[in-house]
Amino acid sequence: MTEQDLREQLVAFGASLFQRGYSVGSAGNISVRLDDGYLMTPTNSSLGRLEPARISRLDREWRHVGGDKPSKEVFLHRAVLTARPEAGAVVHLHSTCATAIGCLAAPGDAAPIPPLTPYFVMRVGRTLPIIPYYRPGDAAMEPAVHEAARGARAMLLANHGPVVSGATLTDAVYAAEELEEAAKLALMLRGMPARELTPAQVDDLLATFG
Ligand code: 13P
Repeated sequence: MTEQDLREQLVAFGASLFQRGYSVGSAGNISVRLDDGYLMTPTNSSLGRLEPARISRLDREWRHVGGDKPSKEVFLHRAVLTARPEAGAVVHLHSTCATAIGCLAAPGDAAPIPPLTPYFVMRVGRTLPIIPYYRPGDAAMEPAVHEAARGARAMLLANHGPVVSGATLTDAVYAAEELEEAAKLALMLRGMPARELTPAQVDDLLATFG
């Protein structure tokens, strides 16, 4: 894909996420790895109204070199993309149900959302670390995010929202969508005797689909 293709894809996915309520106002930000740097959504932009030419361009050292001023969460995306060389994109949302799980007083250590459905396991994986609360844009979060990203494709920022990576932008968006749906199911089923996938079924999914 050319950089122009990726810019247009980022705009299209942003609009789709916004229209379906995965982000509201100017919440959320998205980054994409390029051969020689990164694309990033501009700060205070609505994912619903991005423009290809105004998307922020950063060089390999994460310096702003083009487009509008980048998201204040650059360090968050940097932490994930440097921890996961195989990741090509990162999506951060404030999607309601995943954020709600991150607001629970005792959400559970590494797996606050149980393995209820195959696509959650296939897209998000076995673990979903929770990063303690930091103010949005606080670079002090970077070491904790980096450490968590070394062992997990996605994480929840406590009282803030999900951060999801993928090999491509499409993969990252699909995983963010599955995470939100899984969070919704987990909340709907709280207090009910739900049947979870067994460890053997989870192993089988990860062995088959990666
Ligand atoms: P930006 O507008 O700087 O991208 O911040 C939005 C956000 O979601 C903060 O977490």
